[in-house]
Amino acid sequence: MVGFQTRSHPDSHQADPYSGAPGTLPAKLEIGPARARDLPAIASLQRRAFPPRLAYPLGTLVFLWMLPWTRLLVARRNGMIVGCVIGDRVLEGSRIINLAVDPAARRQGIGSALLYAAEDALPGGDMTLMVQTGNTGARALYRRLGYEDESENPNYYGPGRPGVWMRKRRG
Ligand SMILES: CC(C)(COP(=O)(O)OP(=O)(O)OC[C@H]1O[C@@H](n2cnc3c(N)ncnc32)[C@H](O)[C@@H]1OP(=O)(O)O)[C@@H](O)C(=O)NCCC(=O)NCCS
Repeated sequence: MVGFQTRSHPDSHQADPYSGAPGTLPAKLEIGPARARDLPAIASLQRRAFPPRLAYPLGTLVFLWMLPWTRLLVARRNGMIVGCVIGDRVLEGSRIINLAVDPAARRQGIGSALLYAAEDALPGGDMTLMVQTGNTGARALYRRLGYEDESENPNYYGPGRPGVWMRKRRG
């Protein structure tokens, strides 16, 4: 995969808590493109982060990783994969198709940092994503980073399981 720069925290010894500002990272966190050998660990992270029917299995991750218009980034802390984000380019811009943070590492800014990194890696046009209507945590995160509700699909995740399209306008 090409087109990424691994970003590391500008000052991993800083005493201040993570500000959440774009272009900064939580302490000791590194974000960069997934390597082929990372894919089994990402599949394991998916199983920890999502209910079984929503977790991407290894085969799907391998397929997505190979597509030239798809970006798969991982967040590492102390060498361990603690989060991942997958996005791709679509006709009118770019789309987030998966975002996951290890349950043991949540509310530390990792999801936000991954989302900012995906936006950097997918330049041009608006960002869109689909999220389960009842996923209040993820929706709060997306809103905080500038995504707005656009339309609802009542059966996107299966009968009676609605999802909402969200969009971040980027000019
Ligand atoms: C959604 C998810 C990626 C968030 O990751 P995270 O690293 O915990 O997110 P952050 O720490 O960057 O959160 C940033 C802000 O988003 C909001 N937020 C995140 N999770 C929240 C939750 N569970 N409840 C309420 N607000 C939440 C808060 O405003 C938070 O800031 P704060 O911690 O200072 O209050 C993570 O909970 C996850 O992997 N969930 C399961 C998979 C999933 O639902 N993915 C998204 C759909 S594809």
